Amino acid sequence: MIRSAIIGCGSYSPEKVMKNADFEGIVDTSDEWIVQRTGIHQRHIAAEGETTADLGEKAARAALKDAGIGVDQLDMIILATSTPDHTFPATAVEIQDRLDMRHGAAFDSQAVCSGFIFALTTADQYIRTGYAKTILVIGAETFSRILDWTDRTTCVLFGDGAGAVVVSAIEGEGTSADRGILTSHLRSDGAHKDKLYVDGGPSSTGTVGHLRMEGREVFRHAVGMITDVIEAAYAATGMTSEDIDWFIPHQANKRIIDASARKLDIAPEKVVITVDRHGNTSAASIPLALCEAVRDGRVKRGDVLLLEAMGGGFTWGSVLLRW
Ligand code: UT7
Repeated sequence: MIRSAIIGCGSYSPEKVMKNADFEGIVDTSDEWIVQRTGIHQRHIAAEGETTADLGEKAARAALKDAGIGVDQLDMIILATSTPDHTFPATAVEIQDRLDMRHGAAFDSQAVCSGFIFALTTADQYIRTGYAKTILVIGAETFSRILDWTDRTTCVLFGDGAGAVVVSAIEGEGTSADRGILTSHLRSDGAHKDKLYVDGGPSSTGTVGHLRMEGREVFRHAVGMITDVIEAAYAATGMTSEDIDWFIPHQANKRIIDASARKLDIAPEKVVITVDRHGNTSAASIPLALCEAVRDGRVKRGDVLLLEAMGGGFTWGSVLLRW
């Protein structure tokens, strides 16, 4: 059977680093509050004029180099983002043009913080049906552009960045010993649409709008939703937390990550954490964390990786794969 394997990854974080202390004077907050409640120490912020396409392009080039393939071998680009350069065309098309890719198809996918999980699952479906052989999946965001910098309950939480992976078809036996994506589970429930949203859009206000969040409400639902899709992954594969080598969660809040790992009995030393240095980079957070753990040698061929995310919508999802 056809499996989708990640054959390369790359990431990019903007040069400018904003420390928690830099918020003092902007909003009524403190390094102590931010660290205690979120685990965030700093985040990267895009420079003036630096856009989601700029970040995504850099991550994409790094992923292609890591995979050792050229653009000619790509069939598709899927970009997960909620902060596109323009309402249209898709920012994926902008990146396609910059990569000088004149064939195939490129499109954006929008599931906010779960965006990378949705995009990776979409790529997996195209590959396993034989429609495409090799797909570039990117998560890129410039959330700094949609933050209300006077709202201390949200502006301290997010950062900018991009990560990308090249996913390619390989032959598998159809067992959980295969390399590649073994199972994925996507969910959404629009009943929660008002708990995390942007108060603008082309068809409603004609403006871009700002991020609004009932943080406590999001927090209250997060662990249950994360557990739901991870248990679905275990049920589909017969695996348990014992089998997981690396847990690579969406990086929104260290307390949510710790509580999820504790509930699922995943040992702390198996958890990849970047939220301390990146903040919440929405659709970019998982590929940023994944690439870091691959680059520093933690993730090795044959390891079992569990990815999950939860965010606006609400949307939530998991991907279980063997590296
Ligand atoms: O990517 C997925 C989407 N996002 C998330 O997963 C975020 C989920 N939620 C969270 O991570 C947490 O709810 C937050 C980090 C947003 C907030 O932590 P919390 O422990 O739920 O705090 P809280 O909202 O209950 O606020 C506690 C207090 C409040 O003051 P009062 O009402 O108790 O006097 C807030 O006004 O902390 C205050 N507060 C702050 N104080 C200093 C809120 N933001 C700040 C701040 N600095 N930046």
